[in-house]
Amino acid sequence: MVETTISVIKADIGSLAGHVVVPDFILDIARKSLKEGVEKKIINDFHVTNAGDDLELIMTHFKGENNEEVHKLAWDTFMKGTEKAREMKIYAAGQDILADTFSGNVKGMGPGSAEMTFEERKSEPIAVFMADKTEPGAYNFPLFRMYADPFNTAGLVIDPNLHDGFRFVIQDIKTDIPSFIEMKCPEESYDVLALLGSTGRYTIKKVYRADGMVTASVSTDKLHNIAGKYVGKDDPVAIIRAHSGLPAMGEVLEAFTLPHLVSGWMRGSHIGPLMPVGLKDSRCTRFDGPPRVIGLGFQVSNGMLIGPIDMFEDVAFDITRQRAMEIVDYLRRHGPFMPHRLHDQDMEYTTLPDVLVKYEKRFVDYEVVPKGKVKDTSDSAK
Ligand code: F6R
Ligand code: MG
Ligand code: MG
Repeated sequence: MVETTISVIKADIGSLAGHVVVPDFILDIARKSLKEGVEKKIINDFHVTNAGDDLELIMTHFKGENNEEVHKLAWDTFMKGTEKAREMKIYAAGQDILADTFSGNVKGMGPGSAEMTFEERKSEPIAVFMADKTEPGAYNFPLFRMYADPFNTAGLVIDPNLHDGFRFVIQDIKTDIPSFIEMKCPEESYDVLALLGSTGRYTIKKVYRADGMVTASVSTDKLHNIAGKYVGKDDPVAIIRAHSGLPAMGEVLEAFTLPHLVSGWMRGSHIGPLMPVGLKDSRCTRFDGPPRVIGLGFQVSNGMLIGPIDMFEDVAFDITRQRAMEIVDYLRRHGPFMPHRLHDQDMEYTTLPDVLVKYEKRFVDYEVVPKGKVKDTSDSAK
């Protein structure tokens, strides 16, 4: 039986006005390019959308993961969009295009990708989550809840097919050479949490059911690590397979009901709540945020995508959004103070090293003497 692959490949190649939304003409260019990809039989089907300023290419095919033709199609699509974005002087045109020429796979070249391959079940419901203004570790919390927290996923307790638990493939994203560990829940759940709680370092790459059935795939590309300097956030995507022995779609979505705090937001240097929104609100505005996630549901049918359905465009998520905006209001009042502003090592932009160099010589050993005066007691003052 032929296996179907879902490849979600994304990049920020320019947006309007500022880092807000992908312009319609870029979405059109992408649709045209992927349609040609279908005609040339590179892919089978596709859906193009945007998560804020990120262009998202959702593709199905039968060629397996890391397929050169599929990755090249995505790369060429980003190049075509970038060319037009540059011509139109769209903001940050070509931002995530970090290489001059394609070299076999988009990994390490700027775009982010999540892929998953499986033999289609009798019916195959999936959800694709796409976030803006945040990092790959943003999915650690909801994915742990989906696959390892019985207070979120009732099926872990009451569905015999989920009862044996799930295996998490976790990536250490701070190493130069990709480094992964596989851990099992519930048996190792405290140790899994010890890693996943460090969202800037350990991120979930894939999740499998205990018997090996794949159910989740996340993009873990860190632009900052690739470019060696700030070039934008990673704005990750996740593909989730639901139902029939996996968490139900309602359990998958339940995991996003707490607007948990994530890194990113303004200048990639703040924490803020991850707000689930419908497509109509897929645009980061207030203080370039707050960080947002959209969720599209599809049925995968013989390699075709039926749908999408806009999962978070529902009154059931109003309370989450309301809570998120209350948190936003509270956090914003902290201005430049931690923990709203990230720790200096985690900031994407920082002036701190320059400030420290500028004032280096003025750091001296002072001794406070009576009447509020200070006396320099360092050797240099003697
Ligand atoms: C970029 C982003 C924004 C920018 C900020 C400053 O993806 O999310 O928060 O970091 O708007 O942008 P520049 O430096 O381009 O003026
Ligand atoms: Mg941007
Ligand atoms: Mg973005």
